[in-house]
Amino acid sequence: MLDKTKPDWWKSAVFYQIYPKSFQDTNGDGIGDLPGIVSRLEYLQELGVDGIWLSPVYDSPQADNGYDISDYRAIYPPFGTMADLEALIRQADARGITIIMDLVLNHTSDQHQWFRRAKSSRDDPYHDYYIWRDGSPDSPPNDMKACFGGPAWTYVPELGQYYFCMFSPWQPDLNWENPAVRQELYDMIRFWVKKGIGGFRLDVIDAIGKLPDEKITTNGPKLHEYIRELRREAFPAPTIVTVGEAWSAGLAEAERYADPDGSELSMVFQFEHMLLDQGVDKWDVKPLPVVQLKQCCARWQNGLFGKGWNSLFLENHDLPRIVSRWGDDGKWRVESAKMLAMMIHGMQGTPYIYQGEELGMTNVRLAIEEYDDLEIRNAYAELTAKGWTPEAALDAIAARGRDNARTPMQWSAGKNAGFSTGTPWLPVHPNYPEVNAEAARKDPNSIFACYQKLIALRKTYPVFRDGTFTLLDPEDGSRFAYTRDTADEHLLVVCNFTAEEQPEVCPEAFRGAQALLHNYADPTGPLRPYEARMLYLKK
Ligand code: GLC
Ligand code: CA
Repeated sequence: MLDKTKPDWWKSAVFYQIYPKSFQDTNGDGIGDLPGIVSRLEYLQELGVDGIWLSPVYDSPQADNGYDISDYRAIYPPFGTMADLEALIRQADARGITIIMDLVLNHTSDQHQWFRRAKSSRDDPYHDYYIWRDGSPDSPPNDMKACFGGPAWTYVPELGQYYFCMFSPWQPDLNWENPAVRQELYDMIRFWVKKGIGGFRLDVIDAIGKLPDEKITTNGPKLHEYIRELRREAFPAPTIVTVGEAWSAGLAEAERYADPDGSELSMVFQFEHMLLDQGVDKWDVKPLPVVQLKQCCARWQNGLFGKGWNSLFLENHDLPRIVSRWGDDGKWRVESAKMLAMMIHGMQGTPYIYQGEELGMTNVRLAIEEYDDLEIRNAYAELTAKGWTPEAALDAIAARGRDNARTPMQWSAGKNAGFSTGTPWLPVHPNYPEVNAEAARKDPNSIFACYQKLIALRKTYPVFRDGTFTLLDPEDGSRFAYTRDTADEHLLVVCNFTAEEQPEVCPEAFRGAQALLHNYADPTGPLRPYEARMLYLKK
């Protein structure tokens, strides 16, 4: 077990993200719940993770599945009660698992009391909690678009004003320039720290310094000032782990966010690697440029070395399944899922595993009416209005839509994959009789077993945490190979990103080295389809 009283304990930790709605239902309403998570702690302990990042469980009308909060201090009733959450915190803790809460500080739900009051009158003290501009029905302050479709300004006729909403009209943006807003949020965060949680994931934190009049959403001039104040006032303890979601972050920003002096956050989720296989937007699906992926990873590994800290991830609740995206979810599902896991877990940083990734869960294809996600529904309308055929729009959605990650967790070959005895809120992927946790736990060669070993290796060999990173053959578009080195440990990771055999990569020094992990028996000779090897040497 990690010593979580050490300020940088999270550098040795591996986290697991739970999307509560899809994890485990215990009362047959088709919606995952907190008691369901408690019932699966044993599974997470067996996997070996040190913490859970819990996607939002706060009360919410669920326009965006909880990323639209109507009460930060209450639990969404279908998920359970505050007592259920406290039980989860305690019982997870007893198994060495820390709970990381999701903090949505950029916006609330339009059903939050603050917004109801804000909307009731220009003179209400809560009015200034949100961002308002005067206007008439046909003349919004500017032409900014909301991420989930439509304009970023919503008109309230009774007030003769527009409010700013970067995501959707159901998610009005908070006015961070108002000190009362900031104090109220810090107070709420202290409430959660007192409950014994271990840290926070900060939703779209790069947007809190926005200047909508100048069409600036991310990286506004006061962003880092606000984050430093947040750290000081709300979670000063160095043991609190914090990871900010920052789609806009390049290396320079990430260095500021993750300054080792602890004045801001522990680390950020940056998405450069996740944007390489798209064109104008996420629906413009392109093949993965492997050379760019390698060079991107190398830039982040080397760029933050000693100056910050990386988060390592390939999936989350907003992204498609990685085995479908960069691997092969047909013939080579098992091999390619393990290869991708070894590729990312060999690097420096804190790994985050998204529920079902450890089983090699795959993308799903649904009929348009079966999708739940507001982004998908809006995208379908917008793409088809632009002249895309319904088939083309559905292809893009099946490749990139967020519901790929949100189909229920596949626990067993039983009814509804063991997720629920009722009707699941989103269809279960039809491949559950083959892809499920029960089968994976019994199979020593499963993807689950590979993740388990990767987590254990990180705890055994300091080189995973401390080693420098060197990319081998940067221009090779088929194989991704790198070394990690400390004064006395050397690690080689080699991954074949193709379904074809490729020549072996094995620098002289690693001849005869110990194979720590591999996804084929007998890890020697040419690389077989999606083969991956981790070799290790100690001086
Ligand atoms: C983040 C969340 C996403 C949500 C959005 C708005 O990107 O990860 O799920 O829709 O913020 O809160
Ligand atoms: Ca339930």
